[in-house]
Amino acid sequence: MKTFTFDAGFPGKAIVHRAYHGSFGLTRGLKILLTSALSLMMTTSCSGREKAEAHANSEPAPKDSKILVVFFSHAGDNYSVGNIEVGNTKIVADYISEFTGADQFEIKTSKYDGMAYRPLCDLAKEEQKNGELPPYEGSVDVSQYQTVFVGGPVWWGTWPQVMYTFFSKNDMSGKTLIPFTTHEGSGLGSCVKDLKKVYPNADVRKGFSIYGHDVRTDKDRVVKWLESLGY
Ligand SMILES: Cc1cc2nc3c(=O)[nH]c(=O)nc-3n(C[C@H](O)[C@H](O)[C@H](O)COP(=O)(O)O)c2cc1C
Repeated sequence: MKTFTFDAGFPGKAIVHRAYHGSFGLTRGLKILLTSALSLMMTTSCSGREKAEAHANSEPAPKDSKILVVFFSHAGDNYSVGNIEVGNTKIVADYISEFTGADQFEIKTSKYDGMAYRPLCDLAKEEQKNGELPPYEGSVDVSQYQTVFVGGPVWWGTWPQVMYTFFSKNDMSGKTLIPFTTHEGSGLGSCVKDLKKVYPNADVRKGFSIYGHDVRTDKDRVVKWLESLGY
C-alpha cells in the first residue's frame, strides 16, 4: 500500500487545500482535526481510489477529430525520483501521443530551471497564494482540436499556476477535455474540479492520475486507461 509521506511542507492532501485557500478562521483547530482525519482516510485508500479512477473513464472519447495533449512537466530536482531529465508528466504525455497519435503542446517556462525541490515548492506556494500567471513560451491553435488531454503535476493540490496562464489564453469551451495528473499522494487533487471551473462549457471527463515515481515502470496502467476511453 502506498502512503502519502511528503516532508516538504505538504502535510497531507486536505490540509494542502486549506493552507492554500486561506480559510483559516475561528474554527481553525476543528478544521485541522477534521481534515487530518480525512487525509488519513484518503491516504490509506489511495491505491484503491486510483484503480477506480483508471476504470472510471469507460465513456468513449470522440475519435473523429484531431487530438491534442497539452501538458506542463518540470524536469530537474524531483521529490521521489531524484534529478530527472524528462519530467514525469511528459512521460505520460508521450505515452498518450504514442498510443493515440495525438499532437502535443508542452507548456514551457524557464522560470523554474535549475531550482532545487524545496525552494520550488515555496515559490509555487507563493505563486498560488498570489494567483500569479507566469508566462510560457510559444502557442498552439486549440481550435483545430475537439479532444484535448490536459496534464500536469499536482502542485499544492491543483495545476501549477503556469497552466492557469495557458487556460486564461486558450478558450477550450465546447471541447472534450480529459484531465490527467502525476503526483505523490494527492491523486487528481482538485484538478478536475478546477478545470471545470475554468471551462464550465467544456465536456470535462473524470480524469486519470498516476504516481510520478510509477510512470517509468507502469506504462501498462496508462495504456489500460486509454483503452478504456476507446483508443
Ligand atoms: C512545487 C511542487 C508542489 C507539489 N505539490 C504536490 C501536491 O500537492 N501533492 C502531490 O501529491 N504531489 C505534489 N508534488 C509532487 C509532484 O506532483 C510529482 O512529483 C509529479 O510527478 C511531478 O511531475 P513532473 O515531473 O511532470 O513535474 C509537488 C511537486 C512540486 C515540485
